[in-house]
Amino acid sequence: MEKVRIGMIGSGFASRLHGNSFRRVGGIEVVLRGTADISADAARQLAEEYGYEYWTTDYHELLKDPEIDAVILCTPPRLHAEMLCEALKAGKHVLCEKPLTGYFGKEGDPELPGLHVPKKEMLKKVCLDMERLEEVVNQSRCIFMYAENYIYTPAIQRAAEFVRAKKSIITYLRGEESVQGSPSAGAGYWKNIGGGTLLRIGCHPLGGMLYLKREQARARGEDFGIHSLVADTGMVNPGIPEAERKYLNAKPQDVEDFGTVTITFTDGTKATVFANDNVVGGIRNYIDIYCNDATLHCHITPTDDLETYFVDDDGLENVYMSEKLEQKTGWNSVFVSESIKRGYVAQLQDFLECVAYNRQPLSGFSLARMTGELIYAAYVSAEEGRRVFWEEVQSL
Ligand SMILES: NC(=O)c1ccc[n+]([C@@H]2O[C@H](COP(=O)([O-])OP(=O)(O)OC[C@H]3O[C@@H](n4cnc5c(N)ncnc54)[C@H](O)[C@@H]3O)[C@@H](O)[C@H]2O)c1
Repeated sequence: MEKVRIGMIGSGFASRLHGNSFRRVGGIEVVLRGTADISADAARQLAEEYGYEYWTTDYHELLKDPEIDAVILCTPPRLHAEMLCEALKAGKHVLCEKPLTGYFGKEGDPELPGLHVPKKEMLKKVCLDMERLEEVVNQSRCIFMYAENYIYTPAIQRAAEFVRAKKSIITYLRGEESVQGSPSAGAGYWKNIGGGTLLRIGCHPLGGMLYLKREQARARGEDFGIHSLVADTGMVNPGIPEAERKYLNAKPQDVEDFGTVTITFTDGTKATVFANDNVVGGIRNYIDIYCNDATLHCHITPTDDLETYFVDDDGLENVYMSEKLEQKTGWNSVFVSESIKRGYVAQLQDFLECVAYNRQPLSGFSLARMTGELIYAAYVSAEEGRRVFWEEVQSL
């Protein structure tokens, strides 16, 4: 059996999403070699929890380790680009968390760049960075994979199978990821994340929809491209009276907590992404696919696999129900097999197989680049109140 030896860089929330999937992949032996985190406690805890052989506070140790084939980047987004380049240079295959990169401020920027730096300047910088990263990835012999789990959800994989088989034309896609705030304290600041809810969570339905449209084009032997987009963003939470904000956790400082973008593809068809940080009742992830000859609803989470009604929550204190659910009593749609339904297992399986058998992943660089550039183009559209044409983005 082929063997892949893993180093985990960053030992927080996302590293556990991957960690929970390792024991569910098959056909390839996985060796959990090392974890790295600037917090010794975080690195040690993750290593102990999942059985990594060692931990370190310096990720360069993992990059130098000849017993590591591949690293998973689960660090804050502002670190991805540099870590990716270093890892590929060190001969390591890379699975990089989303977003691949973004605008995180530059020397001389005001404290809150999200409020003051023109979005067009940000888009230009992101496009240049993407171009540089693409060159690095293309010149490397290592595998690069972009961790877009939506692509690997069983619902979207099955939907893609139908679209391919029927050679359907997808006329409209509508996708949403909405949640009550972010688990990360720094999510309210542009300099940490590179944007707000549209980038942080809207990237998921966007990535899934771009994949579906690409699959349609492949099945029909057609070209796939973006024509233009129109977006709206807002900072809704601060406008709600403080006393009435008690169920809402979003704390946007210079980022949007609401974002929507409608994309027009070169064939004239459309897709709309919704992202919202002020949603109670648990995380909401779905993509609706409207075709010329079919309608498909991909319920990612929640689903109706298991509905529960509890009159009280005695004994449930440590029982997980679903992400960001406020209370466990009353009726709830509980997550079942979350790591499978949300695509994390199939994502890891694809990455391990790509490394073991030297093939390209479903979610590669072009998807990471298009997702990132589209979101920054959406920021320009929202700020300038106009349609942004893709030709303009490509010529920056
Ligand atoms: N695909 C998904 O569903 C999903 C979900 C959550 C987060 N993410 C992504 O995963 C990434 C990490 O997010 P998170 O929620 O795990 O954040 P987190 O804050 O929980 O964890 C990040 C970890 O990186 C560590 N770190 C910071 N600088 C470092 C450095 N120089 N070297 C090593 N470690 C360093 C931090 O100490 C922290 O422990 C982000 O890009 C985020 O967008 C993806």
